[in-house]
Amino acid sequence: MTDVSAENSGPVGVAQAPSVAVYTDDEIEAGRKLFVSDWDFTSAAGSFASLPPMLGVEIAFAGRSNVGKSSLINGLTGRNALARTSRTPGRTQELIFFKATGPLVLVDMPGYGYAKASKDKVAAWTDLIRTYLKGRANLARVYVLIDGRHGLKATDADVLTTLDSAALSYQIVFTKSDEVSATELAAHMAATTAALAKHPAAHPELIATSSRTGAGIPQLRAAIARLLVERAA
Ligand code: GTP
Ligand code: MG
Repeated sequence: MTDVSAENSGPVGVAQAPSVAVYTDDEIEAGRKLFVSDWDFTSAAGSFASLPPMLGVEIAFAGRSNVGKSSLINGLTGRNALARTSRTPGRTQELIFFKATGPLVLVDMPGYGYAKASKDKVAAWTDLIRTYLKGRANLARVYVLIDGRHGLKATDADVLTTLDSAALSYQIVFTKSDEVSATELAAHMAATTAALAKHPAAHPELIATSSRTGAGIPQLRAAIARLLVERAA
């Protein structure tokens, strides 16, 4: 007789179904409302000393250079040119803070894994990002963006380990879903679901998005709305 429970849990490393986040209509609506107001740039910090005071509830967007962090912030806020984007990697070079009328603050981060940046610059960014992640009491969640065309890379896994050790809440968001077939995206998401077994601090459910088509944006807004409700409870 087949042991169904063993089949469902599946050994780590063996292909398994991706764990995908599902939200109720009410949560989707709460997410829409959360982002309906006018978002604006508030400040930029290139060093620990220039970080703004810890006010509000911060959500930071991290990921490899060019993965689409700034584009996703524009998609969420419905403002095409709020965060600066570029076809060439290395566009965002500071921590950039955005705010609307509510308590929520969005933080666009410099990308990692940008090979062409000078060693000094990479060291300075890495230092800034690490200090920010470790010492930010009002940082409610980090969204780690993974390129849907490439899946989880070793450098991404290193970042997840840093987030684990900083005891931060984080969730994976796939980007550029419009650039990849549904089958390939599902395979990358399944492999990431398996890899997350080694990262207990990670939120286990993934969200796939496209800033180009708007796919997954309502779900990501709902995830953030749910997080705010959970924090208030
Ligand atoms: P850095 O600031 O350099 O770390 O990059 P980033 O992660 O902020 O990426 P950015 O938002 O600047 O986007 C990089 C490139 O990817 C731009 O050319 C975007 O137009 C493109 N891009 C971003 N999101 C999507 C998407 O969902 N679909 C497609 N097709 N292209 C995207
Ligand atoms: Mg950027």
